[in-house]
Amino acid sequence: MPEIHRKKIYNPESLESVNERKIFGGNPTSMFDLNKIKYQWAYDLWKTMLANTWFPEEVNMNADTRDYNGGLTPQEKLGYDRALAQLIFMDSLQTNNLIDNVNPYMTSPEINLVLVRQAYEEALHSQSYAVMVESISANTDEIYDMWRVDMQLRHKNDYIANVYEELAKNPTEHNLVKAMFANQILEGIYFYSGFCFFYTLARSGKMLGSAQMIRFIQRDEVTHLYLFQSMINSVRKDRADLFTPALEEEVIEMFRKAVEIESAWGEYITQGQILGLTSEIITQYIQYLADERLSKVRLPKLYNVSHPIKWVDSFASFNDQKTNFFEAKVTNYAKGSVNFDDF
Ligand SMILES: [Fe+2]
Ligand SMILES: [Fe+2]
Repeated sequence: MPEIHRKKIYNPESLESVNERKIFGGNPTSMFDLNKIKYQWAYDLWKTMLANTWFPEEVNMNADTRDYNGGLTPQEKLGYDRALAQLIFMDSLQTNNLIDNVNPYMTSPEINLVLVRQAYEEALHSQSYAVMVESISANTDEIYDMWRVDMQLRHKNDYIANVYEELAKNPTEHNLVKAMFANQILEGIYFYSGFCFFYTLARSGKMLGSAQMIRFIQRDEVTHLYLFQSMINSVRKDRADLFTPALEEEVIEMFRKAVEIESAWGEYITQGQILGLTSEIITQYIQYLADERLSKVRLPKLYNVSHPIKWVDSFASFNDQKTNFFEAKVTNYAKGSVNFDDF
């Protein structure tokens, strides 16, 4: 399979015109001449991401400290720790994956621009988790070590990291496109499913600060999901030859496996003990997410199920928080509110 190469970071010999730009496999000068744009969606996305700027310290976590140490059941506490440990792993992985693994092969400056911003946001999410862990737990190491000692989490993380590692070990066009789908799955299934746990707790009046933090994080993840879906669709246009039936079969298998793994994980963190989140609901929600993501990249839906917990969508949206339900200063961030329903 054709190999791909890291782009040069300084390339004065290149005479590549804007129309010749490619998502990958191009020959860029590596100058950020942003007066000439080929992938306009990427530059528009950059501006949206800038408008979404927020800071984790601004979320008030005082009530969560009280809830965690008095209001939560032992099962809710354990679920909270596990859900958080999973998010900590994914944002850590994603920061490095974007910068060290994906971006070096991307040969369009407007794509490099958004990937760098995305990596910054993933790093910011890691900081958010530090704020959350610090405010709820006396023993912060316990949550931070979970990725290593909790075998269920380890198994899930091994699978997620594996596709990224395939690209690192064997950088081919095929593996790069597969890694793009892996990013779409991470941003659009694993994260969404993890967030759902926090919204469910908040819906019963618990851990409202955490839910607010997650809402800010999710607003970022929506743009990340859009980025990878758009990249996949742009590559499909430029390089239709790569989208062979064999590749599509592999991708569909990745989606199936992701649904299986995430459903098992959802069961593990809720243990049937979280009000409103049965195993059936969790599985159906994950299947619904998988179908949505597949259709956005023009692949057939696999499950054809309805959204079983529609309240999550309005709960997660700033646009729907007209009553300022949470105490944080939602309205201050209205400048970043863009309707992502189409994303
Ligand atoms: Fe993130
Ligand atoms: Fe992300």
